[in-house]
Amino acid sequence: GSEPAQTAELYDFMVVSNRLPVDRCSPDESGCEDGWRRSPGGLVTALAPMMTKTDGAWVGWHGAPDETLAPFSHGGIDLVPVQLSTQDIELFYEGFSNATIWPLYHDVIAAPEFHRTWWDSYRKVNKRFADAVARHAAPRATVWVQDYQLQLVPKMLRELRPDLKIGFFNHIPFPPPEIFAQLPWRQAIIDGLLGADLVGFQRSSDAGNFMRSARRFLGASVKQQQIHVKGSDGQTTHIARAQAFPISIDVKQISELAQQPEIIERARQIRQDLGNPKTVLLGVDRLDYTKGIRHRLKAYAELLADGKVTVEDAALIQVASPSRERVEQYRILREEVEGTVGHINGTYDTIQNTALRYLHHSYPVQEMVALYLAADVMLVTALRDGMNLVAKEYVTARTNNDGALVLSEFAGAADQLKQALLINPHDIDGLKAAIMKAVHMQPAEAGRRMRSMRKQILHHDVDLWSADFLAALEEKVIRDDS
Ligand code: F6P
Repeated sequence: GSEPAQTAELYDFMVVSNRLPVDRCSPDESGCEDGWRRSPGGLVTALAPMMTKTDGAWVGWHGAPDETLAPFSHGGIDLVPVQLSTQDIELFYEGFSNATIWPLYHDVIAAPEFHRTWWDSYRKVNKRFADAVARHAAPRATVWVQDYQLQLVPKMLRELRPDLKIGFFNHIPFPPPEIFAQLPWRQAIIDGLLGADLVGFQRSSDAGNFMRSARRFLGASVKQQQIHVKGSDGQTTHIARAQAFPISIDVKQISELAQQPEIIERARQIRQDLGNPKTVLLGVDRLDYTKGIRHRLKAYAELLADGKVTVEDAALIQVASPSRERVEQYRILREEVEGTVGHINGTYDTIQNTALRYLHHSYPVQEMVALYLAADVMLVTALRDGMNLVAKEYVTARTNNDGALVLSEFAGAADQLKQALLINPHDIDGLKAAIMKAVHMQPAEAGRRMRSMRKQILHHDVDLWSADFLAALEEKVIRDDS
């Protein structure tokens, strides 16, 4: 439940992200409790476990337009809401964050749009987040800023509060300088990020891209992972460090759920409801053009057409959770995906069997784990993805070491899950071959691969990720002071 915070507190540790871990909802919506529901996306999945165990506050937007809320606490976490107006949502969130930066950082899969009004709003909203943190941070507090919506916050915060330790983590890819170069405000963005003492990325290639951009567009001196940051007088103000910290999941939670009798029973039920096909395949994504859903459906449709899979033997479940529905490219994608789904099912379904079960919903974690347990083959075909936690959740849920993961090499998870069937989603023939290999994989090979992937994740869970990042931040700031 929600209870009001007693007094305006100062915090020694603060996380800042565009979204709070909970989102406003109305009671008639599914999953809505007391006007709140869990926010979508990997960022919240990764940070919520740490924040429930840590004293500190989470600063962010609560998902509703034009609503000003006082700090409160929910699910054991102190929350400091930042207000966004309808116009901020349009210009800062849907515009600059999700129609400029998002496509630019994901290999321009969709064309980024550059509008000065969006940029003005991005700056204004970033300042509002920085002000909120500055008001609530105790002297010399540690502040950890998250993701691409808030890239200007580190520098703004350093100007307001030079006493703070500032970390930044980018959950999405950072593009090569040749692509980043398109951004009219490229210098200001690099400069904003360099306000942090430590800038973390998912892959070492992302950290490398960032350092190359810092050198090219700011003329910064970069040695190893250290970037010398200069003030307007040309003097070095501090040294920022850029480094990869691959994010992970709450391994304990997922493996415990995967062993609960009710969830195992629910998985059996799901298979039965599908008519007990030999093979269940699964895709789980936010409905986003970066996820390669169209490529996956194309490959699957061709396998049906070739007679390599049949609706009697196999069923594909595609969960596509609603996302950024007012952004043009997302509307177009939804139309296309739903058209393709209709086409596939219309062509191959029988009265009894379905080729493809398409679900435009989001589900609680219990149902997700049941789906992972029900699926023999997991398809992660992203065209570009910072990490992809779904891949890690699937592997973690397979406590019997069976099942097969088809994984895009363009997802950050490919750096850790080397025993997956790695694919290039643009290569439809290669993707089809990998799907068939997964469908027919012998238990011995599946077990060997799954055990090795499980070992990797069990030893690198999300607690280790945050502990590593915060230890590196601590160490860096102490070294600079000494
Ligand atoms: O992890 C990437 C990310 O963009 C997060 O920053 C975000 O919270 C999540 O995906 C979901 O997107 P949105 O907040 O736009 O619904």
